[in-house]
Amino acid sequence: MNFEKLLKAAQEIKEKAYAPYSHFHVGAALLTPSGKMYTGCNVENTSYGLTICAERNAIFQMVNNGEQEIGEILVIGDTDEFLPPCGACRQVIAEFAAKDTIIYMCNRHGQFKKTSVAEIIPFSFSLDK
Ligand code: THU
Repeated sequence: MNFEKLLKAAQEIKEKAYAPYSHFHVGAALLTPSGKMYTGCNVENTSYGLTICAERNAIFQMVNNGEQEIGEILVIGDTDEFLPPCGACRQVIAEFAAKDTIIYMCNRHGQFKKTSVAEIIPFSFSLDK
């Protein structure tokens, strides 16, 4: 099952997070329609605003590898709540996903809330007129 595959990969990459300032470790994993998986962790910086979130890291890995379509994406934190992507990441997810693309928001126990792009960013910015 794709969910299990994504969860394992996101849990693994979460351990690599560089988060000495927030101590908040996040992992993300996505599958493309071709079946390839890309993962990312958050990488912080002493100049805080330069921090990159796990989801965007995973998405940029995908683009670096010549792919531009998210099939489904999962994000996990060491939280009791299901971890929702931040606003910036929602816009970046929307760039490479369809309205019905699945997003799994997970907690530290590997439990999840399944949602979609349309649900988490209903009015995403687009240049389309
Ligand atoms: N973070 C993510 O990696 N993804 C999100 O969607 C929310 C926030 C990271 C950024 C920062 O390193 C830490 O979590 C605390 O905000």
